[in-house]
Amino acid sequence: MKQYYKVDEWNIIEEGFDSSMHESSESIFSIGNGKMGQRAMFEEYYSGKSLEGTYIAGVYYPDKTRVGWWKNGYPEYFAKVLNSPNWLGVEIQIGNERLDLNVCKVRNFERKLDMQHALLSRKFIAAFPSGKEVEVTTERFVSRVDDELGCIRYSVKALNFNDTIICTTSINANVKNKDANYDEVFWDSIEEYIQGEKAFIGVRTKKLGFEVYEGFTSTYKKNGELFKLVPTATKKEKFVSFSVATALNENEIFEVQKYVSVVSSMYYSDAQLKHACNEKLDAALTKGYNQLLSEHAVDWEQLWEQCDVRISGDAAAQQAIRFNIFQLNQTYTGRDHRLNIGPKGFTGEKYGGSTYWDTEAYCIPFYLGTNHQKVARQLLQYRYNQLPKAIENAEKLGFKNSAALYPMVTMNGEECHNEWEITFEEIHRNGAIAYAIYNYINYTGDASYLWEGGSEVLIGIARFWAQRVHWSNHKKQYVMHGVTGPNEYENNVNNNWYTNYIACWCMQYAAQAINEVKEHYEKAYEALVVKTKLNEAEELKHWKHICDNMFYPQSDELNIFLQQEGYLDKEQILVADLDPKERPINQKWSWDRILRSCFIKQADVLQGLYFFEDHFDTHTLKSNFDYYEPRTVHESSLSPCVHSILAAKLGYEEKAYEMYLRTSRLDLDDYNHEAHEGLHITSMAGTWMSVIQGFGGMRVVNGKLHFAPMIPKQWASFSFNIRFRGRVVHVLIGKHELTIELLSGDKIEVVVNNTSYTISEKDSAHILHHSKPN
Ligand code: BGC
Repeated sequence: MKQYYKVDEWNIIEEGFDSSMHESSESIFSIGNGKMGQRAMFEEYYSGKSLEGTYIAGVYYPDKTRVGWWKNGYPEYFAKVLNSPNWLGVEIQIGNERLDLNVCKVRNFERKLDMQHALLSRKFIAAFPSGKEVEVTTERFVSRVDDELGCIRYSVKALNFNDTIICTTSINANVKNKDANYDEVFWDSIEEYIQGEKAFIGVRTKKLGFEVYEGFTSTYKKNGELFKLVPTATKKEKFVSFSVATALNENEIFEVQKYVSVVSSMYYSDAQLKHACNEKLDAALTKGYNQLLSEHAVDWEQLWEQCDVRISGDAAAQQAIRFNIFQLNQTYTGRDHRLNIGPKGFTGEKYGGSTYWDTEAYCIPFYLGTNHQKVARQLLQYRYNQLPKAIENAEKLGFKNSAALYPMVTMNGEECHNEWEITFEEIHRNGAIAYAIYNYINYTGDASYLWEGGSEVLIGIARFWAQRVHWSNHKKQYVMHGVTGPNEYENNVNNNWYTNYIACWCMQYAAQAINEVKEHYEKAYEALVVKTKLNEAEELKHWKHICDNMFYPQSDELNIFLQQEGYLDKEQILVADLDPKERPINQKWSWDRILRSCFIKQADVLQGLYFFEDHFDTHTLKSNFDYYEPRTVHESSLSPCVHSILAAKLGYEEKAYEMYLRTSRLDLDDYNHEAHEGLHITSMAGTWMSVIQGFGGMRVVNGKLHFAPMIPKQWASFSFNIRFRGRVVHVLIGKHELTIELLSGDKIEVVVNNTSYTISEKDSAHILHHSKPN
């Protein structure tokens, strides 16, 4: 696997400029702060290939769906995260030549992402066709402290000439989405205006009318000294700029600092927006670039203290895990329950910035382990708030009695996907949403969510499953037809084991939740019964009948669960026997061929075994893993992490490590040849899980933290902090010893390889361990 970026523990570094890699680098070097983010486009003009992307959380466009033949139940629109006004613009002209890295000769190029401080920088020397040379250094960040603020520092040194430099700073709202169904422009102009040395634009999205105001101002320095220049303002539709011109002689350095405020109608009334945008800018200017940067950097350092994972002895693995953690923290902060985690975060348009089951199945454990529990709870709240739409969604498909079917892809609770023919039967997402409630309560012990919304969600979901199965007179069991499991390489199958299993689990868990509410909080129980019109005796009896009589396809001979009833009829070939030239099959094969093949895109049966591992004995886990992994092409980013965790559990050290590298360096090393489209943000949480749950063997059982460590031979040691029920626990796993320290909080009992230890605050336990046997 190629390693294009330099391996470094805290930084991502690109040395040398390769224009063919630029779009991938734009993804890799993306920065964000939960409320906005952008790809790493250049500030200066660039005529080469670039995927422009500036995104503002929650601001989207319902693009009319494109389908061949419309059918009932299809979603009306495909939601799109919007490419928003681009505030990066810092154009440089020397004499009459424009700085453009696609035209100039570039040397000593370095692009660097300092993950510890969330700072993106570049330096390079560019030679213009005339032979004049400049040395450029740039730096930018989107503040984590004030998440409506972005700052740029851009400096140009004349290396071998005396001439005039013209610097034009701008905001440009003449932007389009690459992925637009009808090639439309999604923004209308509200106004552009100049106020002294500040310039603003206001724009509104078509259809939904989100409003965004962006403003900027710049200060200038020459040879390190503040330098007053009178800018010339330009104002056109959806564009504002300031230009300054000054003499630049050999060895002189010109620097511009650009402050940008970005506010949206997600947080302000239309009447407040202008004012807020202006105020932010003034406040930023008063603080100045250095203070803003240092506050931002300190905030990131503090964040790292709680979520860093240290791996010693393997710099590539270290860099990768930090990259994953960094990107997750850039994408979601938990400050707003209306926001969620798009599979590409702020790094690309693919997946439309919408919410998938990825959040519940993969991201929640990361936020639970590294953040205050309220962050994960916000994600649960998001689904609770969308319950009425999930009920409507199910009604549209013919379900009754307030059954809820959550969308596979959503912005506001409504289903909104272009590739509907693949995802509409992926009803398993309903299972993950219920599982996340269980996961949250199991981890935090905070059962209050059950009476503060959770049970309503669970009842809606259970009702859906109860209606989605049907009785087979032939089998004398319940069956579920016409589904697509997590493996999207098989559509419209009957009795997908994973879906059947999680469906029954949901019904059982919903019944258990109702009982818990009844036991703990009678008033809430009464309100729940009224609100959901629950016919407890009848409904729970029916759910139980289904669960007691559900059909699960399996092969006794192979001791495996069958991905779906017909799976063994497929021609059985192993991935190892595929010609490498034919991979990835989703880029080389026809869809028809993929659907008929036995190849599995991502964990399906194994996803179920991962969620419910304590329901099965090790022999069963092993035989299923041994059967399915060799047939899995891991062409979903969500696949390797689950396999890494299961492999670690089963003591398959090499497989666990191979899968770990694949999940953690998926984008850095571009395993699936698609980094240019954006990063795989949601699977990054899976990377974290593969270290903590995989190699650390961490689980929460009956309210206690358990560890069963395994350390890859490539690592000398690894360590991490875990937030657990009001405590911060530090775990260090060496070759032979595990140290658990309670950094803060009440005394804790932890279980390591089945032995219990009690640790007090500021104290630690040192425990010998040996890796699990094969
Ligand atoms: C996967 C889905 C996932 C989606 C978004 C697809 O490729 O198969 O499971 O939800 O990507 O990450």
